Amino acid sequence: MHKYWHKKSEEEIKSRVFGALKQNINFRENNILGVPASHLDDKVFSQDATFLKDAPFISTLVHNPNHIGCHTLGKSEHFFAGTQALEREVIELCAVDILRGEPGEQDGYVASGGTEANIQAIWVYRNYFQAEHRAHPGEIAIICSADNHYSMNKAANLLSLDIFQVPVDEWTRELSAAAIRETLERARAQGKRFFIVVANMMTTMFGSVDCIEPYVGELQRLEAPFKIHVDGAYGGFYFPFAESENTLNFANSHISSFTLDAHKMAQAPYGTGVFLIRKGLIKYSNTKQASYVEGEDYTLIGSRSGANAVAIWMILMKNGPFGWDEKIFVLQKRTQWVCDRLVELGVQFYRHPKSNIVTIRSEFISPDVADEFGLVPDNHAIPHWYKIVVMDHVTVEKLMPLVERIRAKKD
Ligand SMILES: Cc1ncc(COP(=O)(O)O)c(C=O)c1O
Repeated sequence: MHKYWHKKSEEEIKSRVFGALKQNINFRENNILGVPASHLDDKVFSQDATFLKDAPFISTLVHNPNHIGCHTLGKSEHFFAGTQALEREVIELCAVDILRGEPGEQDGYVASGGTEANIQAIWVYRNYFQAEHRAHPGEIAIICSADNHYSMNKAANLLSLDIFQVPVDEWTRELSAAAIRETLERARAQGKRFFIVVANMMTTMFGSVDCIEPYVGELQRLEAPFKIHVDGAYGGFYFPFAESENTLNFANSHISSFTLDAHKMAQAPYGTGVFLIRKGLIKYSNTKQASYVEGEDYTLIGSRSGANAVAIWMILMKNGPFGWDEKIFVLQKRTQWVCDRLVELGVQFYRHPKSNIVTIRSEFISPDVADEFGLVPDNHAIPHWYKIVVMDHVTVEKLMPLVERIRAKKD
């Protein structure tokens, strides 16, 4: 069932990562005179061999590989070929074993995070419409839901594109075909002819998931050229496991790219956004002027740490696909537990049935309770909702006191 994803032992993980580091240049042992980089400063970061020999991730940090560029196509900096191979495995595993792509049919890289990966997608599609359809930036629109992450607004601002947000239902957080139609009509009335749709695979505040069929239906009805990117920054390492029947994946020919953040549900260090895109598209974001970089640069970021790719690889291999299923199963159970308690208490909340985010109406949560339990509001100035995110550390024991405080407020 999984082509690439097989659980590995601690020893196998160590031997693979240390083997990869051996294939990279070693700033101490090799005569490398031309790169503006070195191992981490040994006055501050221990290079003590005994301490590092059992610590593949910290060793990678100390070696400090630079994964500049994209390593799934063309050439890459040969200095860091060993750890780039691990990054290619991460990209291929996520695209094929998590998102049902065909082997070898996707490009991608480990971005700084969800913000960068979303901007990267919109940048590629803006350039694609300009190059292939002679579109003027004023004719290209970003379309997303009113619950979109603010990175789409950043992208609109940076790339000089207009953004149109489709209103969502207050209680289901769903987008109706009628709301999509009205939004597209509003955009067309302002001269937009090419559409970059960003669909959510779990929104930041609600964990809601967009259905892309109404987008596709309405855009086809208008015969408007479009590209669909899925923002799975939050949900990419959750939703495909919680809902195996879902259609937000590369098997759906309308979807061209994904963002998945390992630094959210995969508990990886920050700097582990994953950008995935069908082959043939990333060329639209190539910067040819990056001539000193072997293989040029298709990414937004430039220099980036290879240790981030190694961290994702280690986390996926240590858990294995069944370990991941179990992790999501437990989080689903705990989320259900808290939802059942809220129903008993008559508290109004939103939860997508396949999500670990529970978003409670603010009238049921006093500001001091929100503060005490670290609940995050939709808007710090005027909160309408507060969310609980059932992460690994959010156990039933930790949820119970919150339920008791809500009960006390009601009584
Ligand atoms: C749905 C979604 N997209 C994008 C992002 C942005 O991710 P980052 O903070 O890693 O840039 C977030 C962050 O919470 C998110 O929830």
